[in-house]
Amino acid sequence: MQKIFEERINKINPEILKGLKEKKEFSFRINRHKADLKVIEELKKEGFSPNKVEWNKYVFTLPIEERKKITKSSVYTQNKIYIQNLSSIIAAISLDVNENDWVLDLAAAPGGKSLIFSEIAKKVSAVEPDKKRFFRMKRNFKEHGAKNIQTYNKDGRFVYKATGKMFDKVFLDAPCSSEAHIDGEVTWWNLKRVKRFSKLQKELLSSAFNCLKPGGEMIYATCTFSPEENEENIDFLLNKFSNAEILEINLPIDNIQEGITKWEDKEFNKEVKKAIRILPTDAYSGFFFCKIRKN
Ligand SMILES: C[S@@+](CC[C@H](N)C(=O)[O-])C[C@H]1O[C@@H](n2cnc3c(N)ncnc32)[C@H](O)[C@@H]1O
Repeated sequence: MQKIFEERINKINPEILKGLKEKKEFSFRINRHKADLKVIEELKKEGFSPNKVEWNKYVFTLPIEERKKITKSSVYTQNKIYIQNLSSIIAAISLDVNENDWVLDLAAAPGGKSLIFSEIAKKVSAVEPDKKRFFRMKRNFKEHGAKNIQTYNKDGRFVYKATGKMFDKVFLDAPCSSEAHIDGEVTWWNLKRVKRFSKLQKELLSSAFNCLKPGGEMIYATCTFSPEENEENIDFLLNKFSNAEILEINLPIDNIQEGITKWEDKEFNKEVKKAIRILPTDAYSGFFFCKIRKN
């Protein structure tokens, strides 16, 4: 499996395998429900020197060796900061949530992205079918002081049947084959898994799009590289819904690659070029996301 995995990844971009190693940095953001920029002074007093990222004043990085130590700091135990990968944060921010928005997070646990939306949105609805993950997510929201998130222990594939087209924004951080988390030997990955997730993702993607108001916008995201789980699904959406439009995303980072339009014997709609693959680095995990508008 190692060989097939590496051959496939190299066909997408040989830089990916170089980046798929243990991270040298971790990142966190200030939880604005409980804190503001002053927490950085508190962290400095506790001996940390966080580096601010260029694209958001609430997001910082630190060397990986300090990860364990920070979880013992008072700032962390009081839930004033939230440890989260930069790729997840930048994808969530790209949804451009505003204070009038009702946001649906269709695959939400443990809830890191819902927490980002809840800092700005009017209301967030977070859906998670797995019972254990669902209750952990609820606790996470409570501990981080987010009061505008409603939670639903439901299967995202069928949510549109109950809600209709009522959300201003939708984020679908789809369950996936998690190739971005392989940092050494390939053990649990195989092609059957990729195909199985690809099918589930198409059902979730249709549900997510059906939940959007006309004029609403959504992001489809995965933490995997396989085109079957990424570009192929966007191509599927464009074929299924004539009112789906792919939007351009401008990111202030350079470890990115545009969506690919050819994979094996398949050719995708040229619009999928507007999707983004974040290439893994010392601080960024591999990620794929695409922004879609419902006309
Ligand atoms: C990538 S994780 C989401 C991470 C989350 N958005 C965050 O940033 O904290 C994907 C989630 O989808 C959930 N999931 C699996 N099948 C699902 C389905 N049919 N409907 C909705 N969610 C599903 C998984 O249990 C998992 O919690």
